[in-house]
Amino acid sequence: MSIENSFGNKIEQISFEENPFEDETVSREWINSVENEKDMARDREIYPRLSKWIEEAAPKVVVEIGSGQGICSDKMEGYDGRYIGIEPSAVLVERAEELYKNENRNFIIGNAYELPLPNECCDAGFAVNVWFHLENLDQAAKELARILKPNGKFMIMTVNPDEYENWLRTYENIQEDGKKVVGKANTPIVSLSKNIFYRHSLWEMKKSFEQNGLKINAIEAFGTGGKSGVDYFMQIMGIKIIKQDENA
Ligand SMILES: C[S@@+](CC[C@H](N)C(=O)[O-])C[C@H]1O[C@@H](n2cnc3c(N)ncnc32)[C@H](O)[C@@H]1O
Repeated sequence: MSIENSFGNKIEQISFEENPFEDETVSREWINSVENEKDMARDREIYPRLSKWIEEAAPKVVVEIGSGQGICSDKMEGYDGRYIGIEPSAVLVERAEELYKNENRNFIIGNAYELPLPNECCDAGFAVNVWFHLENLDQAAKELARILKPNGKFMIMTVNPDEYENWLRTYENIQEDGKKVVGKANTPIVSLSKNIFYRHSLWEMKKSFEQNGLKINAIEAFGTGGKSGVDYFMQIMGIKIIKQDENA
């Protein structure tokens, strides 16, 4: 069934799966974990990669999808453009506003499947450790493509599908239902009492971007920057292509 969103676009009515980060307890666990993580994967790999990507993309406006408690807004070294963080958890948005909101940065409650933003409003979009929490990759890619300007850049950091088994070793009380895995995630510093993870294949991820006009330019696997040698993460970078009929 199709409905009209607040920007007048016809969209398919979509159901949002459960997101445990919207639960207050899990939100607070995440805040405690991410704010106390020091000299681990985030500082060694994730934030430097984010800074490098943003420097090269040089967007006037960047949107982060699933911005959590907002820390990535503060880790883009040298970036002085406008930043908009979209996040479904009200508790996390409140914390992001408390710590990071300023005249160039704001945080809005919203979902990757129905971004509360107009068409072609940004030059770049990214997500860090969000995509493996999403069941409907096609809808998320469609929304990312909708808000990007033509030639807009995108960057997704997520779990490397080649290392799902290694990643899930840190989970407890696992329940599986097809691709869906539910369990307690022993994230660094503080565990998340409930976490939901979808084992999408790399092929499914690539297909969802490409069928929505998002061309992948590079995929890089990377580790925690520690000694394990395991490439737990993957960074996908690309560009929104201009459809040929729009050029005619
Ligand atoms: C592991 S946290 C990462 C937060 C942030 N990106 C960071 O790296 O600090 C995962 C985030 O994905 C968000 N998330 C999960 N499902 C989502 C959805 N459907 N739309 C937008 N965000 C979602 C969660 O609410 C949570 O904030």
